[in-house]
Amino acid sequence: MSKQYETIKIEREKSVVHITLNRPHRLNAFNDTLIEELSEVLDTIDQDAGIRCVIITGEGDRAFSAGADIMAFPKATPVTATEFSRIGQKLFSKIEALSKPVIAAINGYALGGGLELALACDFRIASEHAELGSPEINLGIIPGWGATQRLVRIIGLPSAKRLVMLGDRVKADEALKMGLVDKVVQYDQLKDETRELSQRICDGPPIALKYAKQAINFGSQVPLEVGLMIEASLMGLLFSTEDVKLGLEAFMSRRKPKFKGK
Ligand code: COA
Repeated sequence: MSKQYETIKIEREKSVVHITLNRPHRLNAFNDTLIEELSEVLDTIDQDAGIRCVIITGEGDRAFSAGADIMAFPKATPVTATEFSRIGQKLFSKIEALSKPVIAAINGYALGGGLELALACDFRIASEHAELGSPEINLGIIPGWGATQRLVRIIGLPSAKRLVMLGDRVKADEALKMGLVDKVVQYDQLKDETRELSQRICDGPPIALKYAKQAINFGSQVPLEVGLMIEASLMGLLFSTEDVKLGLEAFMSRRKPKFKGK
């Protein structure tokens, strides 16, 4: 965690890791280095049992991320573009599958790949000046890092078609109404708000949170009966943890549980 990166900033605050996309001169657009560095740091975080929550945001007050770095597009071929799409998809699937909850603190534009990053997170809190959208259609292409799939699952077909096929950019208050973000706060409250949410997550039982995320994510991709089986198995497995004992003891003695993550 002490490693220095070129395109991201990493700060550890107790059991929370803050990742800041750090290419403000390009509105935090994703180039190859950013993809590689983010992927590497996520692998480290996944393996670290001391980390209970991750917050991702963008440097500055203009952008969370304006998406893939368009400067690289003119040189793309069908083969390299497909490969680029798969690399970005894998990165965001890594976030979706991360063993800890991930919060997107959307501090400005979340467009194209920026929105796709936010969609892969578990919670999305936006600053009131943020704008979200999938403008790829205006470049003559379609999203390649998950928006055509995850948007439908999060906001439903009609709104997904509006964003992807019309390229509409929505302001934070409208994004809230669509269910695209969970909460909208003033820009200067974004840090406190996400910190408060991360504290609630850190106070929770980490293994149960991991299984809840798995049950919801995997369950949403399979028939209901299969999803219910996944739920039952993971719920049952939690009875092997120390945390369930701590949770039950705390309930019986009417105090707040202090979960250990064991
Ligand atoms: N890739 C590379 N550079 C980008 C970028 C991207 N996705 N988005 C913005 N930038 C760069 C701009 O080229 C500009 O660089 P410059 O100062 O060297 O000219 C800088 O970031 C600031 O952006 P600018 O367009 O001047 O700001 P704006 O306030 O006028 O507009 C946006 C902001 C976000 C609306 C506009 O930049 C935009 O539409 N970006 C592209 C979003 C997009 O289509 N994303 C999907 C990519 S597949």
